Amino acid sequence: MILHRIALAAITTFGLAAASLSALDMPEKEPSQSGAQGAATINGYQPKWWKEAIVYQVYPRSFKDSNGDGIGDLKGITSELDYIQGLGVNVVWLSPHYDSPNADNGYDIRDYRKVMTEFGTMSDFDELLKGIKQRNMKLIVDLVVNHSSDEHQWFVESRKSKDNTYRDYYIWRPAKDGKEPNNWTSFFSGSAWKQDPVTGEYYLHLFAEKQPDLNWDNPTVRNEVYDLMKFWLDKGVDGFRMDVIPFVSKREGLPDLPADYVARPQYFYAMGPHLHEYLQEMNSRVLSKYDVMTVGEAFGVTVEQTPSLVDERRNELNMIFNFDAVRLNRNGDAWRDWTLPELKAIYTNLDQTSDVHMWNTVFLSNHDNPRVVSAFGDDSPAYRPASAKVLATMLLTLKGTPFIYQGDELGMTNYPFTSIEQCDDIAVKNAWKALVLTNQVPADVFMANVRKVSRDNARTPMQWDSSPNGGFTAAPRAWLAVNPNYKDINAKQELADPNSIYHYFRQMADLRRKTPAFVYGDYKDVDPSNPKIFAYTRTLGKEKYLVVLNFSVGAVSYSLPSGMKAGDLVISNLGKPDDRGDVLHLKAWEARVYKL
Ligand code: NOJ
Repeated sequence: MILHRIALAAITTFGLAAASLSALDMPEKEPSQSGAQGAATINGYQPKWWKEAIVYQVYPRSFKDSNGDGIGDLKGITSELDYIQGLGVNVVWLSPHYDSPNADNGYDIRDYRKVMTEFGTMSDFDELLKGIKQRNMKLIVDLVVNHSSDEHQWFVESRKSKDNTYRDYYIWRPAKDGKEPNNWTSFFSGSAWKQDPVTGEYYLHLFAEKQPDLNWDNPTVRNEVYDLMKFWLDKGVDGFRMDVIPFVSKREGLPDLPADYVARPQYFYAMGPHLHEYLQEMNSRVLSKYDVMTVGEAFGVTVEQTPSLVDERRNELNMIFNFDAVRLNRNGDAWRDWTLPELKAIYTNLDQTSDVHMWNTVFLSNHDNPRVVSAFGDDSPAYRPASAKVLATMLLTLKGTPFIYQGDELGMTNYPFTSIEQCDDIAVKNAWKALVLTNQVPADVFMANVRKVSRDNARTPMQWDSSPNGGFTAAPRAWLAVNPNYKDINAKQELADPNSIYHYFRQMADLRRKTPAFVYGDYKDVDPSNPKIFAYTRTLGKEKYLVVLNFSVGAVSYSLPSGMKAGDLVISNLGKPDDRGDVLHLKAWEARVYKL
């Protein structure tokens, strides 16, 4: 601990002119989405608050229940803002908080200007926003506009008749040869088309039946989207995470999925012919008028396509979420064992395909993926804390804005699901019907995969203390069962333990915020093929840091690549090591950061 504090104090002094700059702490600048003009560059980059941010994702349903109904709510989040701020993050991403019938837990929006009743009221939202601003943090909200709920007034009208004013807000097609208009599949199993009895036509839904796709080719729809964006921006939110935004422009004529896309339809649905035009329009009509952060969920976008979305000179998005790392452990929807060189190659590829006009994100978990320590670390009791700290070290020292999912700062783990009745996620329930009930996959094989990859693993409630339901709710039951390990893994215990994952995370967040090299510095993997060790440097001018992470359960005597010597230890996760020089004696799941 003392070692960490001394090291942190030492690294706050920098020789570089811009070194201590923090755009987050600076007075608001001229709103600019282009980044084309403005402040002096750092290592070629335009400094921006969102490049320096550390984002914490809150899934409101599972964060904290304030009124004892078993469901998390906005007041619950407001009551824990000190906890969030204490972690050293400075931007909160709130998963959907809008009125919704919850076919997909809020990603099916019934009214874009209303707060979900279960989560509270608009004045609760205003309080939350105020509390975030008071703490010098920022708030980004989810923008879910590829689709709405089928209970949205637009769709209620749209389905009434073929000549309804709102008909063209959605994508309707007549049957083709008595069947669906094409062979597109939904991400939640089955066809992406649903025949509506009122007119006999089909509507498109890339997700659930209750999530009809909006027709972005209709300019009135786009105007509606821009208006609702302005509604939230005028309230003071600081930007958007844009749900499956690359899907909004559909391919001309809606052609069949070619055979080689059937197993990966996202690459066919994404990057449609008008996507750039629509994003540029959104930027000029809305985003350019505010100092905001935008991050697009870029499912189906390749690394090579990424610059076309995020190059600042194009005025589209600030950043995207690239899925290569978070889905490395997946073959379709099935778990696959991954290797460290594969993960490292992804980060190198991301870095090498971007330049000073672009910016990346770093994340390994969210509400759609398993727990980071279970998927990329080792969640056995022996190695859970150390491996969670290795992952925190990596996420907070790689190049790109880090996004941390709630509970990962505690090392929360996957849930031991044994039956489908314990699951909530529509994706899993539909897959069960499509695969298990049709005898294509045995139930035990299916459930074993659920334990590894299901989205519900990340959606179990936050574990606040060792009281019933982990202190998440006063209700007898939470909406989704709390992980039975809450007595051993919870916030109260970790806040009281200076060696906890939470406190290590906080130190790493402090280190990142105070060290421009970890934000703007060059990234270099110094040993790409090593199967156990991830070693890389971050360099900004004369400042150079070496990060060494042991991703294995064994001790490793690690010889640094030729010419390299460990410098001054800045932080480590397993106490002060006594070796220096060019051979490091690393313990299982040890992380060290050196200043060279
Ligand atoms: C991506 C969201 O993250 C996920 O939770 C949701 O199910 C789909 N988009 C559909 O909105």
